[in-house]
Amino acid sequence: MRRGFFLTFEGLDGSGKTTQLRLLAEALEQQGLPILVTRQPGDTALGERIRALLLDAKTTGVAPMTEMALMFADRAQSIQQIISPALEAGKIVLCDRFTDSTEAYQGGGRELGSDAVLALHRVLCGNLQPDLTILLLPPLEISLARTRSRSSNAQTDAADRFERERRTFHEKVFAKYREIAAREATRVVAIKGDLPIEEIQERIVQVVAAHGIDRRASMS
Ligand code: TMP
Repeated sequence: MRRGFFLTFEGLDGSGKTTQLRLLAEALEQQGLPILVTRQPGDTALGERIRALLLDAKTTGVAPMTEMALMFADRAQSIQQIISPALEAGKIVLCDRFTDSTEAYQGGGRELGSDAVLALHRVLCGNLQPDLTILLLPPLEISLARTRSRSSNAQTDAADRFERERRTFHEKVFAKYREIAAREATRVVAIKGDLPIEEIQERIVQVVAAHGIDRRASMS
């Protein structure tokens, strides 16, 4: 039986979601709450190999369906090996990306559509839904500029396979995220605008507190 709290972070590359996830994890940990931080794709032994394959700019000619299948292969493994056991143990699971990413990137960016993603999610992931999703949605220009400057500063690894995509790809991902936020208005909290890190962090802390996540985790 599920007893913990499943919290996912979503957004485009360069949206600031990984930074915000880390800040929230630190804050929850300081309160002595049991947390588990994970990411997709990756984190299991199999998942890290899938991640390396998918992100490597040298991986070429990947069919969109193959890409979607690999994202779900990673996720099914992660649910079985990491997420479900942690939730069953009463932990707060903070997951950097989940199925909304597949819907935005493969469903939107690669134009496979939402229906295929949601159907696969039901079959391969037992339709596991986050209790809460924080979607960071600064203006597209901001995310693109951050990703560009990150890649040009990198000593070794330049932009990955997704970051190298054309602007139109990212526009489609952005549009699909907005669509998801409108459809899933109770689960997804979208934080829009070009806001300072501290202000976003404050808002996230408020949203999380409003969901009683601290009480839920400590009750279990
Ligand atoms: P990350 O750098 O935020 O960890 O994400 C890795 C990349 O993988 C990012 O560009 C988004 C992409 N991605 C998908 O295209 N579909 C998915 O389902 C997931 C989880 C990630």
